Amino acid sequence: MKINRRPFLIAAIGLAGILTANAAVETSDFDDIKLYTLKNKAGTAVKITNYGATVTSIITADRKGTMADITLGYNDVSGYMNAVDKPYFGSIVGRYGNRIAKGKFSIDGKEYKLAVNNGENHLHGGVIGFDKVVWDAKVVGPNSIALHYLAKDGEEGYPGNLDINVTYTLTDANELKIDYLATTDKKTPVNLTNHTYFNLKGEGEGNILGHELMINAKGFTPVDSGLIPTGKITPVAGTPFDFTTAKAIGRDVGKKDQQLEYGLGYDHNWVLDKGGKDGQLTLAATLYESTTGRFMEVFTQEPGVQFYCGNFLAGNLKGKSGKTYVHRGGLCLETQHYPNSPNQAAFPNTILNPGKKYKTTTVYKFSTQ
Ligand code: GLA
Repeated sequence: MKINRRPFLIAAIGLAGILTANAAVETSDFDDIKLYTLKNKAGTAVKITNYGATVTSIITADRKGTMADITLGYNDVSGYMNAVDKPYFGSIVGRYGNRIAKGKFSIDGKEYKLAVNNGENHLHGGVIGFDKVVWDAKVVGPNSIALHYLAKDGEEGYPGNLDINVTYTLTDANELKIDYLATTDKKTPVNLTNHTYFNLKGEGEGNILGHELMINAKGFTPVDSGLIPTGKITPVAGTPFDFTTAKAIGRDVGKKDQQLEYGLGYDHNWVLDKGGKDGQLTLAATLYESTTGRFMEVFTQEPGVQFYCGNFLAGNLKGKSGKTYVHRGGLCLETQHYPNSPNQAAFPNTILNPGKKYKTTTVYKFSTQ
């Protein structure tokens, strides 16, 4: 596997550079890691690097037209490579995003053992997941970048050569569309997601507790103390997990609740009411920040979304513009299949068969109110 460990500064190739051209490619002395800029008619700009297929920034207008970067990240690729606290800022996680209990699962009676990298469990594809490899990248349209990675049979313990394509497109309707496509030559679990941390006030502008979140889900998957689902789907009604009507994230996050204790806050999978049922993109969640008016909608074909409110951000990390990322300084809405599905027969299937396609789309749409 190709892992680029060279100290390559994204900043040096202009993370704060001038955003003029659509699908501008910023190159450097190092030929295999690049930074791409997508910019649309509204002036929204999205930067993506092929290291980890990572979204390094999303710059959008507030209701007055002032632009700000609303995602957390580092200003150099070594930040992403050496992320000791493993926040997975902006990257594609996989081969199995989220957790697999004890790093074990069986297919057709054969047991597979994965890297155990989160307590006794497997998280986000293992020690060198898709967030820590160099992807091939190709500009495929004025506002579209296609990234490709071939995960080898046995990589991080997973069976099968998995051929993955992730395409990011920024539309003039202010949508960041992520199309995922994968094929395999052996049965294997696949669950890909994007791990962008949003702060609609702007990165480094305090915590996200005042953001108002709606999740289109009447149920969630409660977990054990290692954040592995128990297998039940519990109604959110009457619990701090009820986001069926938009509410401030901070309203109930401090309530006494065993699930919140296990997650150190919200770090759970919601079972989307319509997600994944008919292959249609449906609204999974909305996020609103009243001081800036920024509003974000998340559409997906996936059956679940992991809402993680940045509980592990400890306030000791300086972000790309030098500001400190405080506890809960960003939140993730990771569209996905449920955690540990390979060990939960009742959960929607995550095993991809040879000859079949893993194909799914998620859209983050930005506007103001
Ligand atoms: C996911 C997990 C969290 C945490 C973050 C990264 O969202 O569910 O528990 O590991 O990734 O810090």
